[in-house]
Amino acid sequence: MQLFSVFLSYILTKINKLNKKDIIILGIESSCDDTSAAILKNTAILSNVIASQKIHEEYGGVVPELASRAHQQNIIPVVEAAIKKAGIDKSQIDGIAFTKGPGLLGSLVVGTSFSKAFAMAMNIPMMDVNHMHGHVLAHFIDDEGKGKPSFPFLCLTVSGGHTQIVLVKDYLDMEVIGSTIDDAAGEAFDKSAKLLGFPYPGGPLIDKHAQRGNPLKFEFSKPQIAGFDFSFSGLKTSILYFLQKQIKENPQFIEENLDDLCASIQHTIIAILMKKLKKASKELGIKEIAIAGGVSANSGLRKAIEEHAQQLGWKTYIPKFEYCTDNAAMIAITGKFMFDKQIFADQSIAATARLEM
Ligand code: KG4
Ligand code: ZN
Repeated sequence: MQLFSVFLSYILTKINKLNKKDIIILGIESSCDDTSAAILKNTAILSNVIASQKIHEEYGGVVPELASRAHQQNIIPVVEAAIKKAGIDKSQIDGIAFTKGPGLLGSLVVGTSFSKAFAMAMNIPMMDVNHMHGHVLAHFIDDEGKGKPSFPFLCLTVSGGHTQIVLVKDYLDMEVIGSTIDDAAGEAFDKSAKLLGFPYPGGPLIDKHAQRGNPLKFEFSKPQIAGFDFSFSGLKTSILYFLQKQIKENPQFIEENLDDLCASIQHTIIAILMKKLKKASKELGIKEIAIAGGVSANSGLRKAIEEHAQQLGWKTYIPKFEYCTDNAAMIAITGKFMFDKQIFADQSIAATARLEM
């Protein structure tokens, strides 16, 4: 009799889980230098906790070994904080989504191992998420008063490691139609910032100074690349030679022209990005346009997208600031779409530094 009632309660719990309306997903992101955990209820975010690693600033870039050690220290407190902030109990979590790649392997391993252990302990499914899918699907997180893109749409995904134009046909059906052949747009910002003497990551600092500068003061070379692809390595070289020449004549050149330099560099990077985005929109006949990734936090790029929307009749989608740079909310929403389709990973899953869309 006792065995029967245990069996009955087990079946009822299972049925309850299958029938229950609300799905709660824990998302984990650890691909680079941010340890993040988020709790998603259906398509609404209940919490999105991010521990950024300051340690890399003094090195001028992310040091992989230091990043994985910091993830190891941060992961449990960050997950606990996300659960607490969401006001749920961990037994309510229906599935765990984590970044499988692309990213720094040592960093990815921390999030992946944590997720495997959590899934096993809680007896819940896990979803292995492509970080780049996450950036794109951040647009489907509920945000009051903001619409969500309709398929198909184009997403300019610009981060520290990637620069892509993605043709998004469905939640989990995406095609990269253009990408950088060398540096990413975020790298172009960060490397230019380093030449100006800014700490890492310099992108947000260029953005800040650019707001006070003249974008047309200095002209830098723009690449001529076929199709929808990008190139940014030439820009860095062109800035380097320009600065070397100017500093020879005036050692104070950077300090005296900082705002104009930032505005002109930012203007050039945005012009390179917008040229290809416009070309893709025109050739594919798609006017639903989104931006995603860390560089989509850039105020100049956000403004350029809005201006093009007015001129070209685009319907544009710009993510909330907190969902632009790396975060677990975007991993959780991607995991939710995988959960709905029952696309689950098993315990043999491993992190992958390189992962195609
Ligand atoms: O998506 P993300 O947080 O991490 C990667 O997956 O790479 O992107 C980080 C990149 C960095 O290169 C950073 O400098 C850049 O995004 N970034 C910005 C701004 N905020 C972040 N670049 C320009 N302007 C910003 N406001
Ligand atoms: Zn990213």
